[in-house]
Amino acid sequence: MFIRADISGLPLGRRLAQDLYAFDGHLLVAKGIVLQESHLQQLRQRGYEYVYIQEEDEVNENSLNQGIDYLIDKQLPKVFSISVESMRHMMARVSSGHMIKAVEVEECIDLVYDHVLRTYNVFKYLQNLRNKDEYTLQHSVSVGILSIKIGQSLGLDTDKLRNLGIAGLLHDIGKSMISPDIINKPGPLDENEFKEIQKHPVYGYRIVNGIKLQDYDIAQAVLQHHEHQDGNGYPLGVQGDKINDFARIIAVADVFDALTSDRAYRPRMPLLQAVDIIIKSSCGQLDPLASRRLLSYVLDITTGEKVILSTGEEATVMLKNEVEPARPLVRIGDNFLDLKTNRDVFIKDFAR
Ligand SMILES: [Fe+2]
Ligand SMILES: [Fe+2]
Repeated sequence: MFIRADISGLPLGRRLAQDLYAFDGHLLVAKGIVLQESHLQQLRQRGYEYVYIQEEDEVNENSLNQGIDYLIDKQLPKVFSISVESMRHMMARVSSGHMIKAVEVEECIDLVYDHVLRTYNVFKYLQNLRNKDEYTLQHSVSVGILSIKIGQSLGLDTDKLRNLGIAGLLHDIGKSMISPDIINKPGPLDENEFKEIQKHPVYGYRIVNGIKLQDYDIAQAVLQHHEHQDGNGYPLGVQGDKINDFARIIAVADVFDALTSDRAYRPRMPLLQAVDIIIKSSCGQLDPLASRRLLSYVLDITTGEKVILSTGEEATVMLKNEVEPARPLVRIGDNFLDLKTNRDVFIKDFAR
């Protein structure tokens, strides 16, 4: 495990979890070094505000030999897949006419909750964990996870965050009442099928009300996650502030996750194209504040990170761009490229 630490308050003697570079590309401080005042001084002078350090009990030879990938919680793939299995079980029970219990839902969110809070950019990780075969299950867990991250950056307290995660997990539970032929149809829906799909928030609301969860907001969020700020959503057509707070956060996570997921009928959209759609949707459809929080989160591209450019080349981020986070200075082999000025090249994805 690693943790993100502000340089200003960082105690000496902690072990660095990433290579840090100077503007001209030479290595400033290598991963694995035990930080001393001279290192911190150097980093401060070069504008670094925070670094990733290893948790004290996790410093070992193994972690020092791993790449940037280990700047994420190694348990996440395991807990993600257990959560997906748990969702499968719950959705199967609902579609066969049974109830699910509050404790099942709570256990499902508790599996991922701590790991999600600790992981810095969980979105990059989700990209590698999902596949197109089990969209609804993986989408449910992913929306729960992304909603927690948005809520975390909005400063929600622990109880609210956990309930928000539960609402995210359950937001599409109503789809288990709809024929799989419609849900998994590999193409556009006809008018009747579309009307049927649009019933899933109401179905979900009824299911969640029967679970007897403690927070009333969870059922409201499930009911309202397809409402739009301008009142053009469904099923009620409520507007702006009248839309439940959880529902507004989940709607952002929902749209973003759907766009960036592989589907049977289309590949996932490149990150920056999805970002563009979220920006456009935040005028009328999605809550602007929750949208902004998601974007600043998924676009917080850190120094030393490996990315794939629209040219297909792999590059390393050398210097962050505070104004346009998606357009940093990058290095491709021995060459530098400033994406701020080279507008025809963009970051297509994070390197796997
Ligand atoms: Fe939905
Ligand atoms: Fe959804």
